[in-house]
Amino acid sequence: MTDLQVSSMPQNFPPDFVWGVATSAFQIEGGAQLDGKGPSIWDRFCQQPHVIADASHGLVACDHYHRWQDDVKMIHGLGVDAYRFSISWPRVQPLGQGAWNTQGLDFYDRLVDALLAHNVSPSVTLNHWDLPDALQQTGGWANRETVHHFVEYAQGVARRIGDRVSALTTHNEPWVVAHLGHESGIFAPGIKNRATASQVSHHLLLSHGLALQALRADRQQAQLGIVLNLAPMHPATDSAEDQAKTKLEDGLLLRWYLDPIFNGAYPEDVLEHLGRDAPQIQSGDLAAIGQTLDFLGVNYYSRSVVSAKGTWDVKQSGLPLTDMSWEVYPQGLTELLLRLKKDYPVPPIVITENGAAFVDDFQNGRIKDTQRTSYLRQHIAAVSSAMKQGVPVVGYMVWSLMDNFEWASGYAKRFGIVHVDYETQQRTLKDSAIWYREFLTAQKAQRNLDRPAEKSLAAEKQTATGDR
Ligand code: FCB
Repeated sequence: MTDLQVSSMPQNFPPDFVWGVATSAFQIEGGAQLDGKGPSIWDRFCQQPHVIADASHGLVACDHYHRWQDDVKMIHGLGVDAYRFSISWPRVQPLGQGAWNTQGLDFYDRLVDALLAHNVSPSVTLNHWDLPDALQQTGGWANRETVHHFVEYAQGVARRIGDRVSALTTHNEPWVVAHLGHESGIFAPGIKNRATASQVSHHLLLSHGLALQALRADRQQAQLGIVLNLAPMHPATDSAEDQAKTKLEDGLLLRWYLDPIFNGAYPEDVLEHLGRDAPQIQSGDLAAIGQTLDFLGVNYYSRSVVSAKGTWDVKQSGLPLTDMSWEVYPQGLTELLLRLKKDYPVPPIVITENGAAFVDDFQNGRIKDTQRTSYLRQHIAAVSSAMKQGVPVVGYMVWSLMDNFEWASGYAKRFGIVHVDYETQQRTLKDSAIWYREFLTAQKAQRNLDRPAEKSLAAEKQTATGDR
């Protein structure tokens, strides 16, 4: 039994609420040089000294490229409705343009079919950061041509698997690609230039909008959206300086992405702040970015505390911290969701990532990750609270299904609800996974009470087919 009881959990989730787990290609697949896959910017980045904390790489990762069938069974065993994963662009189109790699497309085709055969809805992200390295050689996301290559890639993938996936997400966390990849340079491709970063953010948004237009012209049936990393920003003190800085940071992380998508314009204060580093925008770009979304994906981990003096010591708040030194701040998720509803005409929202890294204590084959269970439990309650106040949240996905390559932190930080032994590739359900499974079982029992008609239909069908 888990240490935290399921019975005390909120029960107001509607019967069609989608529960899931999430991963991304580079973080779990491995098979980096197999079956015609081209290199990505992350393959190249990992070869540089001192950029990954444990000097690791994604050559093998969780070896999901070979173990996907067992992984699908494991996902099914958790009782989730959906699995969010990403397509490795260089696996399916090694140069990022032109020729397609059939073996790469076949891999995802089989994965999608296996998920469906196990009653799990595939939710697909097209860009979870692993841009084909060949495109980086011609400027990557800073080059406007990449926008058009992305649209072609999106269409190619969607034509192959779009008939069987429930959701297609253009980009995961464009702020991370732009800012961490091109301004601070701590992520691939490791560029440190603010003007480049702002141009990249614009190209990511533009490619998102143009891809949505192209997919709709193709009459794609999957739900179409984008995933943003969002956090409420709190000033460290009441000082005017801290408040002004907080407003700016809110502009850079939230409004820079939300305003053009929902209001057709970049925020004036941020444009002014960027000055000559503001992006070059062509006529028609903003109209293209503002496509109607079927859903907005929100990744939430913690709040941000902003000090005009520079860095703020997270230990000051006295709140529990995760192994990433991120505060455990579930009320921030409710606050964020209420703010989204207040300030924007939001479509249905899916919490596409939420979870925590902790140092797991592996004892006699069991991982008692009580802190992670508590984290998930509190954040699910925070979602429930926002829903009670009218925010249209329709799904929640745990980051992550299993421990994996945590970018610049390498394998040192473990976010999984399933433990991965990287020597043997053995997967072991942590207590948090067992808790999530029990929680979902309870949700399903509730669903059956809510939908008695469907329940009896299902029972009739089983009797008719002699099932069980
Ligand atoms: C998010 C990323 C995801 C994972 C989590 C911890 O920013 O989308 O790949 O690294 O953080």
